[in-house]
Amino acid sequence: MKIFSHLFSSKKNLTIEEIKKNSIPKHVAIIMDGNGRWASKRGLPRLAGHREGVKPLKNVVRLCNDLGIKYITAYSFSNENWERPENEVSGLMQLFFETVAAEIEDLNKNGVRIVLIGNRNLIPQKVLKRFEDAENITKNNENVVLNIAFSYGSRQEIIEAVKKACIDIKNNKIDIKDIDEDYFSSLLFTRNCPDPDLLIRTSGEFRISNFLLWQIAYCELYFTKTLWPDFSNAEFLKAIWDYQQRNRRFGKI
Ligand code: FPP
Repeated sequence: MKIFSHLFSSKKNLTIEEIKKNSIPKHVAIIMDGNGRWASKRGLPRLAGHREGVKPLKNVVRLCNDLGIKYITAYSFSNENWERPENEVSGLMQLFFETVAAEIEDLNKNGVRIVLIGNRNLIPQKVLKRFEDAENITKNNENVVLNIAFSYGSRQEIIEAVKKACIDIKNNKIDIKDIDEDYFSSLLFTRNCPDPDLLIRTSGEFRISNFLLWQIAYCELYFTKTLWPDFSNAEFLKAIWDYQQRNRRFGKI
């Protein structure tokens, strides 16, 4: 039981200063799950859960800025989410449209760079334009990169990368024998980021759900039962603390 003791430790009231004494992950990826259940438990429409989910994301971005975490990738809308009922999809599109407008000034002031990762062809023009405007406004910011995974699926991302590699081979830009991990990573949406060090998934599900499959090869995983709208600053600090207790060996000894 001792080896797992850190996982169950009731570390309370961690402060940013305490966390900063140990290694800080460069890149944190988050699967923000449980919005629908949060709303259902309160007899509210699912969209109320998504609306409530904006607040913890804002808090996480602020905390990352304070801690010196340089990259966040937030799973905001998957390729599979297009299959949800029409009213939920359109409600979510409206929420993204409004949220980007409401938050852009503050994000920009805090040096946050917005990057959209996902299949842009499927995104309604009006929403895409808002995201792309946000990308342009924030493109020179250097404090934190916030990758918004939107209309995103990792298998599709890998297939697109394979197609790009085939084109490069055909155009004699690369020789097959020179294809390596660095080259392949350079074909992915996340080409400008290091791989995630820590992946957090809320809501008690133990799945990866087609998120960053290539990039998380050596990532530390943190699962919590907390539903995303209830994910607090204290719990984010606890997740980072938990990460700091891990012994990362990358397959070596
Ligand atoms: C998954 O919960 C959550 C989503 C599909 C949407 C997440 C979006 C936000 C938190 C808003 C972020 C805003 C911006 C601008 C990036 P679920 O619906 O699968 O929950 P359930 O599993 O309980 O049904």
